[in-house]
Amino acid sequence: MRGYLVAIFLSAVFLYYVLYCILWRTDVYGVPPVDMKRRHKIQPCPSKPAFASLLRFHQFHPFLCAADFKKLASLYGSDKFDLPYGIRTSAGHFQLALSKLQSCDLFDDEFDSVPCKRCVVVGNGGVLKNKTLGEKIDSYDVIIRMNDGPIVGHEEEVGRRTTFRLFYPESVFSDPKHNDPNSTVILTAFKPHDLKWLWELLTGGKINTNSFWKKPALNLIYKPYQIRILDPFIIRTAAYELLNFPKVFPKNQKPQHPTTGIIAITLAFHICHEVHLAGFKYNFSDLQSPLHYYGNATMSLMNKSAYHNVTAEQLFLKDITEKNFVVNLIQD
Ligand SMILES: *[C@@H]1O[C@H](CO)[C@@H](O)[C@H](O)[C@H]1NC(C)=O
Ligand SMILES: *[C@@H]1O[C@H](CO)[C@@H](O)[C@H](O)[C@H]1NC(C)=O
Ligand SMILES: *[C@@H]1O[C@H](CO)[C@@H](O)[C@H](O)[C@H]1NC(C)=O
Ligand SMILES: *[C@@H]1O[C@H](CO)[C@@H](O)[C@H](O)[C@H]1NC(C)=O
Ligand SMILES: *[C@@H]1O[C@H](CO)[C@@H](O)[C@H](O)[C@H]1NC(C)=O
Ligand SMILES: *[C@@H]1O[C@H](CO)[C@@H](O)[C@H](O)[C@H]1NC(C)=O
Repeated sequence: MRGYLVAIFLSAVFLYYVLYCILWRTDVYGVPPVDMKRRHKIQPCPSKPAFASLLRFHQFHPFLCAADFKKLASLYGSDKFDLPYGIRTSAGHFQLALSKLQSCDLFDDEFDSVPCKRCVVVGNGGVLKNKTLGEKIDSYDVIIRMNDGPIVGHEEEVGRRTTFRLFYPESVFSDPKHNDPNSTVILTAFKPHDLKWLWELLTGGKINTNSFWKKPALNLIYKPYQIRILDPFIIRTAAYELLNFPKVFPKNQKPQHPTTGIIAITLAFHICHEVHLAGFKYNFSDLQSPLHYYGNATMSLMNKSAYHNVTAEQLFLKDITEKNFVVNLIQD
């Protein structure tokens, strides 16, 4: 009996080790087997992207699918982390929200046929104000925007096209004039209520607005076919691998999480071959300079948020720019 137990234990350890090697020790172009199914939509590019060394897996399918998100969560270790870095204790919330979506595709077939995609991630920074980068931004294969950074009225500054827009309940547009039916919008879930909020809006239920740090949108301007849910693996990669956040914060400090901007760049690293940035700089030396390219907020309103580490993010941006992993469209 004891012998059996030891044998079973040893083979379990061996299996775990083999799985571990397959998962984590492959280079960026080695692909874990289960991943193939979901990757078929990403057109491979023969040359390595400049930022390949930053990533465990390049060409990672970034959106959760109702059918297999649990399986992939255990494959990628996302079942060992809570939101926003994994699905542990929130799998039910994910399941509910995903069950109301119509697709987990990355690109449509036409777009998919473009290999080696060139992407631009458009931040909402005031540096975009009075620049005429709109046409340049529109020339990319993939244009990633975030939160409620508007296009309407700012076409010359930031362009007209949007491939992806990342959002969360407190940052999403509620005026339908901002919906571009050609864009895919991506829920970045930070807490279980974000998923519950999406599910409630998609089922026409009553929104419970407790548990939000700011009043969330009470209506959804997007159609179910446009909506995806970001795999928390992307947010975890941003926090632990790119920003090097500690896994445990001191008891007297609130845990910090990456901003949507850094999450958007991390997403771009996983689906693009070239990544360019615009609107990511803040001018801390001039408190009267505009905070965003829209509205009237100035840098003086840039709150020292306990939730983000702006210093770590600015250092990261400086580093990836100096290493030519990304190109900044606005030099200075
Ligand atoms: C943008 O241009 C307007 C009008 O020319 C000017 O009033 C404003 O100060 C400029 N803003 C910045 C940030 O340069
Ligand atoms: C959406 O895409 C179609 C087909 O590519 C294009 O004709 C249309 O102008 C686009 N709409 C917007 C709002 O960009
Ligand atoms: C920041 O603002 C100061 C003061 O207005 C200005 O001299 C400087 O050029 C600005 N820096 C950037 C990067 O825009
Ligand atoms: C910004 O300020 C201008 C001029 O004071 C005002 O007309 C405009 O409504 C303000 N915009 C916003 C979004 O508050
Ligand atoms: C900073 O905090 C003030 C007061 O709490 C708020 O009015 C303002 O909108 C905040 N600014 C930003 C950029 O979040
Ligand atoms: C923010 O990040 C910087 C650079 O990684 C680090 O030195 C600093 O301690 C962090 N700040 C907080 C409040 O954790």
